[in-house]
Amino acid sequence: MKRIAFLASGRGSNFQAVIDAMRCGEIPAVCVGLITDNPGAYAITRAREAGIPVHVIDYAGYPGKAEYESALIRTMQGLQADLFVLAGYMRILGVEIVREFHGKVINIHPALLPSFAGLHAQRQAILYGVRVSGCTVHLVDEGMDTGPIIIQTCVPVLDGDDEETLSERILAKEHQCLPLAVKLFCEGKLAIKGRRVFLSDGGPAA
Ligand code: GRF
Repeated sequence: MKRIAFLASGRGSNFQAVIDAMRCGEIPAVCVGLITDNPGAYAITRAREAGIPVHVIDYAGYPGKAEYESALIRTMQGLQADLFVLAGYMRILGVEIVREFHGKVINIHPALLPSFAGLHAQRQAILYGVRVSGCTVHLVDEGMDTGPIIIQTCVPVLDGDDEETLSERILAKEHQCLPLAVKLFCEGKLAIKGRRVFLSDGGPAA
């Protein structure tokens, strides 16, 4: 069984989607911990309800990013995870962490990368006027939302949409894509060759 850990800063609905898929046996893995930078994150409640150990590394409690990151890296090392899932983790991982856990960190982003990287991706999509958006699960590299893409799924952008309605439509897809990507990782079905990720069962997966 693979050991999976999560980093989340807020609501944690993607975290929930993956742990639900683990609990019902769809993903051959155990969840070894939730790390959060936000002591008020609702993800903490979800973890406690599921009996998952919580590690709060409150960003505000450290003098700066370097000190915060060294606490984070120690916690991540201690968890001995095969995979770290960024599920609404709202900070950019430092270069040292990305290097240490190369190939072992994935992120979910609410747009079709490389369009609309960074914050407020759904708002960016509405403002730009695209007709299609979606979500992307990708490996984390040293850039912002730039790592090799594992899965993407699209949704239409409708005339009546605002940021909120588009976010809801994308979120429903996120809750399918993230568990699927974690499952493929845990089953050893991802082969990473440069920027491209190949699915050994023939993909595309979604
Ligand atoms: C999701 O839209 C995710 O793509 C983005 O942040 C949001 C987190 O939502 N990175 P939740 O905390 O998983 O509910």
